[in-house]
Amino acid sequence: MSAPNKSYDPVEVEALKPEEIDAARDAALAAFEAAADLDALREAKIAHTGDRSPLALANREIGALPPQARAAAGKRVGQARGAVNKALAARQSALEAERDERVLVEEAVDVTLPYDRAPAGARHPLTTLSERIEDIFVAMGYEVAEGPELEAEWFNFDALNLDPDHPARSTHDTFFVADEQGSPDSGLVLRTHTSPVQIRSLLDREPPVYVVCPGRTYRTDELDATHTPVFGQVELLAVDEGLTMSDLKGTLDHMVVSLFGPGMRTRLRPNYFPFTEPSAEMDMVCFRCRGESVGNPDRPCRTCSSEGWIELGGCGVVNPRVLIACGVDPERYSGFAFGFGIERMLMFRHGVADMRDIIEGDVRFTRPFGSEI
Ligand code: DAH
Repeated sequence: MSAPNKSYDPVEVEALKPEEIDAARDAALAAFEAAADLDALREAKIAHTGDRSPLALANREIGALPPQARAAAGKRVGQARGAVNKALAARQSALEAERDERVLVEEAVDVTLPYDRAPAGARHPLTTLSERIEDIFVAMGYEVAEGPELEAEWFNFDALNLDPDHPARSTHDTFFVADEQGSPDSGLVLRTHTSPVQIRSLLDREPPVYVVCPGRTYRTDELDATHTPVFGQVELLAVDEGLTMSDLKGTLDHMVVSLFGPGMRTRLRPNYFPFTEPSAEMDMVCFRCRGESVGNPDRPCRTCSSEGWIELGGCGVVNPRVLIACGVDPERYSGFAFGFGIERMLMFRHGVADMRDIIEGDVRFTRPFGSEI
């Protein structure tokens, strides 16, 4: 027979003495309070709430107590652990808040500070517009063709049916280029238009020829809001069997719709160019008022001066003399051509009032166009 249970004596279990439990609790609370950062708190947490912490050990001892003593001991240990966990959570969130605040200050970036990194740079809106126009024609099967800016007079004028004494030749305000001896009769000019690339393209290829020719051109104009001595043009030339003026018209309409949106149209006004016959001036519907300003004084349009149309450039059916100069049989082949200024196109398309803004190279002008690299 076993001996009767000894009466409960709490002194028997060291770890469960009330003073021990209170001391363990107080030590934990003090350690949490003393933890200066989250790393220190993590260590204090292991020491005071981990498996080997005094309170965890005390908790384990409860089972070893006589049944009648367990409830009181359990309550005491439970309360101590509750207080410890609560203090731990409070310290944890206080330290986290402190850290977040510090990170906000330490890692703050002053976005208003001037930056010293060199901007990557981007292409000029003239370039991107020119490429967009090229793309329209490349998608239709055209080839991009280029020629020199320093051009022989023969290509710039003669082959285009402008004889030396042709009056149109003087209207081109040409930069003549002196030769090495200083004689102005070098036969070279800074090309006054991109039309000489028509000649070069026809000489280089057998028809059918479909080319789009972007490039820089020069005239002795003073720089002002609507003129610049250096400007860009885009030229188009199609030479094939059976091409007519209606092919030209359809091509122009397609271009303005592609550039300015659905519903855009062009119109042709009779004009004279030596290299085309018949020739026309091409206009497009004003993309801003769409013609609605015409005869409507309440809605004036500054873009087209309420005329409803904007002049784009020149065009026509290729003069047979040009074909002959290039060795193309005009009985078999015909063609159409047009050319226009790219700065003017950019001004219309983006509402630029002064041409100087386009060419001065100030990034404050170009930046709003976005950066295509
Ligand atoms: N080359 C002309 C100019 O600069 C523009 C032009 C007119 C081009 C008629 C053409 C054309 O191809 O057919 O003023």
